[in-house]
Amino acid sequence: MSPSNNDPPRPGHPNDEEGIRRRKVDHIDICTREQVEYRLKTTLLEEVHLMHRSLPELSMGELDLSTPFVGRTLKAPFCVSGMTGGAEQARRINRQLAAVAQEVGVAFGVGSQRAMLVDPSLVDTYAVRDVAPDIPLLANIGVVQAARMPTRAIRALVDAIDADALCVHMNPAQELIQAGGDRDFRGGVDTFKRLVDELGLPVIAKETGCGVGPETIAQLVGAGVEIVDVSGAGGTTWVGVEALRADPARQIIGEDFWEWGVPTAASIIHTRRAGLIPIASGGLRDGHDAARAIALGARLASMALPFLRAVQAGGPEAALAFYGRALDGLKTAMILSGARTPAALALAPRRLGPNLRLWIDP
Ligand SMILES: Cc1cc2nc3c(=O)[nH]c(=O)nc-3n(C[C@H](O)[C@H](O)[C@H](O)COP(=O)(O)O)c2cc1C
Repeated sequence: MSPSNNDPPRPGHPNDEEGIRRRKVDHIDICTREQVEYRLKTTLLEEVHLMHRSLPELSMGELDLSTPFVGRTLKAPFCVSGMTGGAEQARRINRQLAAVAQEVGVAFGVGSQRAMLVDPSLVDTYAVRDVAPDIPLLANIGVVQAARMPTRAIRALVDAIDADALCVHMNPAQELIQAGGDRDFRGGVDTFKRLVDELGLPVIAKETGCGVGPETIAQLVGAGVEIVDVSGAGGTTWVGVEALRADPARQIIGEDFWEWGVPTAASIIHTRRAGLIPIASGGLRDGHDAARAIALGARLASMALPFLRAVQAGGPEAALAFYGRALDGLKTAMILSGARTPAALALAPRRLGPNLRLWIDP
């Protein structure tokens, strides 16, 4: 059951071991069952119109979707976004989705490893390398937590799950709605700079559903970050998720800010324009979305909510079937755009709609 405001007050502090575990379970339950997506704002990927080619001069069999990423090669430019860890249910979800990602040869991210800091024995709710030996695995920690940790402790979190890179997530909007959430966001840029200099592995700056604009990108460029998971507006809203589990006062703020954020398509363009490598995420729901994101310059198309819902509803088979449809959609768009590879798709002729132009032209 998802929590409601009629539930009795819960004992303990939101950030102690039990508080973190309960929050993780709440997040999974709420995202599985409730309406947690933007209501009005869209990704604006629908305003990316790839030009139709009536004479593609390509066959399905000659498409090459292989994609290099953090030292490994993917079979296709997809990723399962970091979602969870720190609870028994999370362990199952991570292991099932990581095994699917291994089977199809795409990247996989775990959710925030904060719970491991409080209780290191929870490592096995994140550790999936045994079922995913060949794919890029992405570790995950919040920039606010990372700011308070020495680099060697952060590296230990990454090594504990044998990850290839670290996603450092930025989630001020979520924290401001969450009871007991962080309220002090100073030191983020310096934390990225320190990690880029000292971690010894790729550092991915990752939003969590509100996207990135030119100002954030300029800060990340200054810090030396090269890869940005844009997690833009138009998909899962973490303001919304926290509003659904907040006390009445914070619920009102959550409702007010439900639509806050930079749409995914605009976030990809801002990232690419600055010469950084975008991972597209936030509201991608099918292969056509993935194709449009890659056309805008994204290296990978990443999805969270659709994989969670598929695995919760029908286990690994349903997640695999969902992925199969997404891959099929991407291949269809590539043929119809005359693109044999993702790199060719990034150069394919397109037209952009007026709302997207509004977000990208000063
Ligand atoms: C249940 C759930 C838990 C999540 N937990 C995390 C997390 O711990 N760390 C993180 O960086 N992002 C987290 N996210 C955000 C996703 O990685 C992604 O950026 C966001 O949901 C937008 O993608 P979507 O619209 O495909 O869901 C979570 C998403 C879901 C659905």
